[in-house]
Amino acid sequence: MSKFTHHIFVCNKCKPPKHLRDGKHDSAKLRAALKKEIKRLGLKAQVRANDSGCLDQCDDGQVVVIYPQAIWYGGVTEGDAERIIHETILAGKVLEDLQIPSERLGCGKVTKKMESESSSAPSPSS
Ligand code: FES
Repeated sequence: MSKFTHHIFVCNKCKPPKHLRDGKHDSAKLRAALKKEIKRLGLKAQVRANDSGCLDQCDDGQVVVIYPQAIWYGGVTEGDAERIIHETILAGKVLEDLQIPSERLGCGKVTKKMESESSSAPSPSS
């Protein structure tokens, strides 16, 4: 049985950011493009591209996460698929133009809840 080196999860619930509301946003096409390149390069035994539900990073356009490396990309389009496979999967390079900064990860409900809890907590001077 093979062991995957990379598992690419493509959120199939994401809405496109405003600048991509021109029909280019399609998670199914993105996933298909990733799978096509994986197959073309003979990587099917090592790399998978799967659909996922919400990854709780909804403010970042089309979100993709690659595990176990925990590389988060946002605003991803079908046109980025080859770069992701060639540069990130094969060469181990993080694509800075797509990377979601670590300080923004988990910026959804968890952070908002934490902010609300911290703002209602008594301050150290009170
Ligand atoms: S809907 Fe895609 S990350 Fe939430």
